[in-house]
Amino acid sequence: MTRLLHFTDMHLRSHQPGTAGNVARLSRDMPAALDRLADQINELAPDAVVMTGDLLDVPDEVIAGGSPDDRPVETWVDEAVADFALVKDWFEATGVDYVVVPGNHDHEGAFTQVFGDTCRTKDVAGFRFFCFWDQLSSDRQPERTDARRDLFDAALADDEHDCPQIHIQHYMIDPPTMARGWHYEYKGAADMKRSVERSGRVKAVLSGHYHPGSLVIGAGGVIHSLPPAFCEAPHAFRIYDFSADGTVEVTDHALDN
Ligand SMILES: [Fe+2]
Repeated sequence: MTRLLHFTDMHLRSHQPGTAGNVARLSRDMPAALDRLADQINELAPDAVVMTGDLLDVPDEVIAGGSPDDRPVETWVDEAVADFALVKDWFEATGVDYVVVPGNHDHEGAFTQVFGDTCRTKDVAGFRFFCFWDQLSSDRQPERTDARRDLFDAALADDEHDCPQIHIQHYMIDPPTMARGWHYEYKGAADMKRSVERSGRVKAVLSGHYHPGSLVIGAGGVIHSLPPAFCEAPHAFRIYDFSADGTVEVTDHALDN
């Protein structure tokens, strides 16, 4: 059996000042929440930990190259680097393999400075993890283009990738989800879903971004899962237990249960 622990959308601020604009996102509580999650990791003993983006809550102005206050943008980026380093040190201290991608509230330059370029494959715990760093288009709908699309096509078709796969990405393929006037699923998500199912290779598509969370088990048993956002009470996370016979059990957990 292989066990994965998945959490997403932490929106942490520690070295960065302030908190997320949405008061439900408890940015400044997240370092202490990570300590509690470490206890759960010790107890639940996953083979790998997955984090699907929005590690931090970096202001939109900073991501766009500006500053939301009278301090220079470089100061904000330095603080984001320090916050990413805090999270990386936490991952390393768990002693468990981990797979992480940035989300739309992470600063990709600062993320890369700390974690390196994780937009690639990683073989962990009997699975090949494909990590996708996708973007929001001008209408805020996620899209997979260029090198990310090439990686996706190669995962599903190339002989060298004919193995059990887990896809890690901030944005969702399924179910189609509309909230606050925005699409949360990818442009062309229905085609992406069919391609994933036809390949027979992908066991799970693990995402974030839509904070209420969702879970769909599609054709061929492919799991499309995003846990509720970790930054909001009760600080949810999910466990996936993959059995050798191809079945998987999904269980919901939370720090405040
Ligand atoms: Fe988020």
